[in-house]
Amino acid sequence: MIEVSIFQIYVVFIIILYIIRRPRIGKDEPPLVPYTIPILGHTFNYIFNTKKFIKECKEQYGECFSIYVFGHTMTILSRSSLTDVFRNPDDFDLTSATNEILPLHQLLIYNGGTCRESVKFHAKTTREQVSGKLDTNIGVVQKYLLKGMEKWIGDCNEPKIVYSAWNMVNGIIALPIANIFVGEEAASHEDLVKSLENLAFDLGPLFMIPPILSFIHQKLHEFVITLPMKFGWNPVSRHRETVMNRVRPVIETRLKEKNMLGENYKPYNDLLEYYMNQPDFDYTKPKNLPYHVDNLFVMTFVSVNTTSRAAADALYDLAGRPELLNELYEEALTIDRECNGSLTVADVKKMVKLDSFVKESLRHNDNILNLVHYMISKSFTFSNGFTIPGGRKIILYTDDMLKSKEYFGVDAEEFEPFRFLNKTSPATKVDRSYIVFGGGRHACPGRFFAIYETKMFLHKLILKYKVSTKSGKIEDKLLIGPFSLPSQSGIVFENRN
Ligand SMILES: *[C@@H]1O[C@H](CO)[C@@H](O)[C@H](O)[C@H]1NC(C)=O
Ligand SMILES: *[C@@H]1O[C@H](CO)[C@@H](O)[C@H](O)[C@H]1NC(C)=O
Ligand SMILES: *[C@@H]1O[C@H](CO)[C@@H](O)[C@H](O)[C@H]1NC(C)=O
Repeated sequence: MIEVSIFQIYVVFIIILYIIRRPRIGKDEPPLVPYTIPILGHTFNYIFNTKKFIKECKEQYGECFSIYVFGHTMTILSRSSLTDVFRNPDDFDLTSATNEILPLHQLLIYNGGTCRESVKFHAKTTREQVSGKLDTNIGVVQKYLLKGMEKWIGDCNEPKIVYSAWNMVNGIIALPIANIFVGEEAASHEDLVKSLENLAFDLGPLFMIPPILSFIHQKLHEFVITLPMKFGWNPVSRHRETVMNRVRPVIETRLKEKNMLGENYKPYNDLLEYYMNQPDFDYTKPKNLPYHVDNLFVMTFVSVNTTSRAAADALYDLAGRPELLNELYEEALTIDRECNGSLTVADVKKMVKLDSFVKESLRHNDNILNLVHYMISKSFTFSNGFTIPGGRKIILYTDDMLKSKEYFGVDAEEFEPFRFLNKTSPATKVDRSYIVFGGGRHACPGRFFAIYETKMFLHKLILKYKVSTKSGKIEDKLLIGPFSLPSQSGIVFENRN
């Protein structure tokens, strides 16, 4: 009688896995960092010891090298090979790699996926309607930033302590965005604002599932996390319903106005109007309004959570540095007096110290690696001579570039808030080394808006409150694998007057 124990099956399984999943490296490829534990490879170090591990690999194996994580080979790129990725955007695909972790194409089911065509459309929308309309929308942004601060921070005659300030900042940042996306009428409804505010937050749990299944096949993780959606569970549906209910009456009113006024109709400046003007807009057709609302959700998804992240990091960076706060207060007060409390784009440009500080804060975002891509051509040769085969997953060693002595000087590791002052190097300017918004022709087109909103938020906040960390120290970010999150420690708010 043959008795097969679970253990024996396990051993056979592991051996088979080991054989089929052994990485094969071609001869002109970047070196594969050696490892001792089969199958697992570098996974453990990659998750629990990222910063040190990647740094040591680069010191030992050079600016580009491959590691073996979650059952596949991934190539880490820094310096010139990183720049090559931005210079050759047609060879590298960010969308398909991102979809594996966050299946937006399965969540926004009416949007027809996140194919290159729709990415182009959203980039154009952002350029023309969001970043391109700062002048027109600055009054709305200002008004709702103040409202948001009143609602979320309010009166701090007695010092108020806020933990996990990202959530609070997210609420404040989302309010102006909701207003310039759907217009003031629809955004006067709290449930709609909540939906736009929480959209990214509600998808958070999906990110938290570690891609264990990738050990078996690269696409298995994506397949499994999207299973619930195939059975009708979708965290976005509820938000879609809410937003549709609120924008439908507004669309109807606007169409009536258009009919009545004809030539004299005064178009609104929001995204809703922009979508209404698309040739394929016909909200009476069954899937048409959900489609446009899903477009709006893509815009929400890429703007709210990222901008609030930048603003929350800056808030913690500021709260830990009392001298900096004083210096920025001086600047803010001067500008506030000049414009009598009502900012224009020119006034925001005048906030040069604040701009340098925001840029330095972004440079210190402390993500170790970022922007995973698939190489989608047959093969790609980097300027340093190494070649990678098609289908290879790559990730950028952004922290190395952002802290490089070569570009930022010997004190590159330090936090120097006024590092960029007098350097004609505004926070929105993408260059070879300042890659927080990506680079090349695909650099994030929303950065102009994101920086403006962040600066305006900090400006108004500094005028109104004194902020400090509860601990009295500079707080570090949380590190989860290669990615960082804002600190969750307490921030103390006190009224200035
Ligand atoms: C931002 O999005 C991430 C990913 O979905 C989520 O984990 C995080 O909680 C969100 N933050 C806020 C403040 O919404
Ligand atoms: C400045 O603003 C205040 C109130 O917002 C207003 O009463 C005052 O007239 C304004 N002053 C100037 C010079 O515009
Ligand atoms: C920037 O320039 C101003 C005047 O042009 C000067 O007073 C200031 O010290 C400079 N700051 C830095 C950090 O170089």
